[in-house]
Amino acid sequence: MVVFLIGFMGAGKSSLGKRLANKLNVSFIDSDKAIEQKLQMSVAQIFEEKGEAYFRLQELNWLKSLESIDAVVALGGGTPCFEANMKLINELGMSVYLKVGINGLATRLSASKTIRPLIEPFKDDKEKLMDFVKKKVEEREFFYNQANITFDAESVSSEKLESLVKLIKLSPIL
Ligand code: S3P
Repeated sequence: MVVFLIGFMGAGKSSLGKRLANKLNVSFIDSDKAIEQKLQMSVAQIFEEKGEAYFRLQELNWLKSLESIDAVVALGGGTPCFEANMKLINELGMSVYLKVGINGLATRLSASKTIRPLIEPFKDDKEKLMDFVKKKVEEREFFYNQANITFDAESVSSEKLESLVKLIKLSPIL
């Protein structure tokens, strides 16, 4: 079974994903990294040289090529929000929406060293960043809310992680 972690940029999909995979004793896959490896280009390079539409196509192709393995997969923040990807995600495995408030997301994103093409132009302008995050989260929550589980990822103690592990193991989808 694949457990997909979805949610906005900065929600902690990769860091929580590694901890969760460890607890579930399965491997961890980061879809952005897998796409980068496949194309031998960074996400930033793909956006710049090929455009966002091309990147979105790569996300869809990557999802379609995913074999049914036991793994925790951290998806890019936009992946569930294009094409019929969210439907596909829920067909391929179980989805967990890591929910973090606008403030928390903006704070994490401005401190992050990862280059994210969508926020790069105003990463250091907290006000513009907040406006962008608010607008985008509002647009995207329609898709994120289709996840099988919604998890408050504002801060994740080991007890809270344990409760997510239990929820996943108890799920009728497994
Ligand atoms: C994107 C999120 C990024 C990456 C790309 C686009 C988005 O992944 O896929 O920069 O549209 O939200 P993270 O959510 O891992 O930052």
